Amino acid sequence: MSEIKIAVIRGDGVGPEMIGPALELLKSVGRLWDHDLKLDIVPACGETIESCYDPLPEESLKRCKEAKAVLFGNSGLEKYRKLPLDKRPEHALLSLRRELKVTTNIRPVSIYRELSQLSPLKERQIEKGVDIVFVRDIVGGVLCSPKFCSTGTGGREAYEREYYNEKIVLDTADIAFRLAEGRRGRLISLDKANVLESSRLWRKSVSQVGSRYPQVALTHCFIDTAAMRLIAEPWEFDTVVTSNLFGDIIADEGAQITGTPRLYASAEISAAGAAIYTPNQLHEADESLIGKDLVNPIGMIQAAALMLKLTFGLKEEAEALNQAVARVLEAGYSTRDLMLPGRTLVGTRQMGELIEKELEKIAAEGAAEKGEETV
Ligand code: IPM
Ligand code: MN
Repeated sequence: MSEIKIAVIRGDGVGPEMIGPALELLKSVGRLWDHDLKLDIVPACGETIESCYDPLPEESLKRCKEAKAVLFGNSGLEKYRKLPLDKRPEHALLSLRRELKVTTNIRPVSIYRELSQLSPLKERQIEKGVDIVFVRDIVGGVLCSPKFCSTGTGGREAYEREYYNEKIVLDTADIAFRLAEGRRGRLISLDKANVLESSRLWRKSVSQVGSRYPQVALTHCFIDTAAMRLIAEPWEFDTVVTSNLFGDIIADEGAQITGTPRLYASAEISAAGAAIYTPNQLHEADESLIGKDLVNPIGMIQAAALMLKLTFGLKEEAEALNQAVARVLEAGYSTRDLMLPGRTLVGTRQMGELIEKELEKIAAEGAAEKGEETV
């Protein structure tokens, strides 16, 4: 029996409701595949902002460090936007990234055929399939640089630096090449090398890693061109690697062109093994959904599946969870954000229960197949 130790930050707003079904499903995976699952519910975000004005207290950070992975729910209530940066819920994630030393963010998106009408793209743009993984550095760039504020000749001024060094690029590029190798062997690196020195370093360093992966076809593209091409010819993108800020933006574009951005996961990992898993859409803007059993739990469930695969090496279990989600969507069930004529509307909890039933069937099918093999 393998031990699976996970720290769980439930988030705030719709976060706790959304993570509920994912936790139930993880327990089912533990029961069905016989794993010793340990979930440590760690207080952070809204809960601790209210209780001690700190989005990630010392003790919570310690417990996250003791786990093998952190499952992090949606957070970022509107009322916290007025707080200083280091008191907001986002800061919990930023501190965790730094403290756990994760280097790379991974965001897979794909279009589910039965939901393709929700995509803002035209049929001719998606008929060849949309299946992309965005790989983004989360250590360098302006998002992680020191912040400067002062007063200059133009009045008050503020700036950050787009800093990169070779090590930062190599760490993320290596993860991207490995992912591309396991997919269709195509990696597109995005930068602004026509203008930025940091991008020229980025491009050179990515190419350098590329020489170790001759089976992966590497191309480079300017970020602004890529933003257009992603809409015009999304089938041309397989694995994408880019810097922190460019990745933050283009991964959201990638989620949005599917029309179903709440179906996907996000992973933050390092070669050393630390990992944080969240839904792709971390900030749920629509607070009118809170407490109404309306929010879509699938992004969080996919995050749990990605965690099983990447951190715990449980490919079969992760695949079963993905399959269970796919079957429920195929059977025509939708939360409110996924509604189309002819589909059946279900709430957060019922969606979780339907996926659980499918998961049980898949586990039984798998056990039967293994039984047959041994006969
Ligand atoms: C994301 C988010 C974060 C980021 C915020 C919450 C710090 O936007 O993960 O995409 O910009 O990295
Ligand atoms: Mn973002």
